[in-house]
Amino acid sequence: MELSKNDNTIQILDRIFEPYLHEGVILNRVAVLANELNNTYQTSDPLFVSVLNGSFMFASDLLKSVHIKSRVSFIKVASYEGVQSTGSVNQLVGLTETVKDKHIVIIEDIIDTGKTIHHIINTISAMQPASVKVVTLLFKPSRLQVDVSPDYYGFEVPDKFLLGYGLDYDGYSRNLRHIYTEKTH
Ligand code: IMP
Ligand code: MG
Repeated sequence: MELSKNDNTIQILDRIFEPYLHEGVILNRVAVLANELNNTYQTSDPLFVSVLNGSFMFASDLLKSVHIKSRVSFIKVASYEGVQSTGSVNQLVGLTETVKDKHIVIIEDIIDTGKTIHHIINTISAMQPASVKVVTLLFKPSRLQVDVSPDYYGFEVPDKFLLGYGLDYDGYSRNLRHIYTEKTH
């Protein structure tokens, strides 16, 4: 599946990827983000909401360095085609913890157009939390289509396709420990 070549590139299906962010670089930055959260949420007993599938690895590493009193929950954004409607409806599934009056920190892998996180923020805000903030590992500001910005982010990235450390290409390679970018030359 993943053909490692001598030059550190890997082939996933029809595309060639090269290393972009090494695991060590990612983990150092994740530790800094965790510290910021430790300081900000020290006394507020937050609920961390990790958005599956993409954020599973980031959430895992981040939360291992979060030492404050807190809860963790996992959600998915499921797309349902309406029977009669033309568009699809995005529903949040899996949020079983109480949100009302809680300080919510949404954990995402990447903000691209921003539509996914915008929808999640709106849905959670309607549940009357005390506050809602977003921490994302990656942020592609050049791609934003809606008015949203992360409160905390790990790395600002260019408009290129990335994979690994939770990010997939057609479902593959989420398990890679480094982040790769598509090789264009
Ligand atoms: P948005 O709604 O356009 O912000 O997209 C968010 C989702 O698109 C992310 O949670 C990812 O699942 C996916 N995505 C965006 N950019 C990439 C990428 O470069 N590689 C892999 N998945 C991506
Ligand atoms: Mg995602």
